[in-house]
Amino acid sequence: MKHFSITFKPDGKQISIHSGATLIEAAGQAGIILNTVCGGKGTCGKCLVYLEPDAREVLACQYKIDSDLTVTIPVSSKLFEQRILTESVDTKAQIQPNVYKKYLREGSATMIFGLAVDLGTTTVVARLIDMAGGQCLATQAALNPQTRFGDDVISRIAYAQTGKEFAELQEAIIDCINDLTAKLCKKAAIETNDVFEMCVAGNTTMNHIFLGLPI
Ligand code: FES
Repeated sequence: MKHFSITFKPDGKQISIHSGATLIEAAGQAGIILNTVCGGKGTCGKCLVYLEPDAREVLACQYKIDSDLTVTIPVSSKLFEQRILTESVDTKAQIQPNVYKKYLREGSATMIFGLAVDLGTTTVVARLIDMAGGQCLATQAALNPQTRFGDDVISRIAYAQTGKEFAELQEAIIDCINDLTAKLCKKAAIETNDVFEMCVAGNTTMNHIFLGLPI
């Protein structure tokens, strides 16, 4: 698929994204979260941006990318700048994994790993944990891709009115966690098959969408 280069002003951030993606998705990839009050339906006008060089006004949620672009984002269209907290206080607490390995012969031991995921409405942070000792081996963060369907819990609930839209939200967060998992495993030079357990913490709406439960 063809990819295009998008530059965002005044931030000066540049990303590459596939043809047909919306400017909302491109901004999210650059770490810029735009207002999506109507959930990307094109009715609220809160995601207005300007295409250079002639400052043409477009709605970021409706504009499909089919060329290289320079886009100016007014302050009024930004929800806030992305600053994902990925550091935390290390704990010496012993962990009690649900899955563990017992070896009948010495010398065949391999490690097992788990994931701790902070599933936020706006951001998602995942940590790769050594389930034997409890140490964090790597941390990876991303924007919650559901932001393109609405920037807060209420607009996500409003968006998920049909089974199809609910499935879109669920698929978006599952893809995101799968992607974070792959990146964490690459960082730690392990296989994704060595991850046996995952703990996900989020608000009720985020948890229910992730698990496919009614909201
Ligand atoms: S018009 Fe509402 S998010 Fe674009």
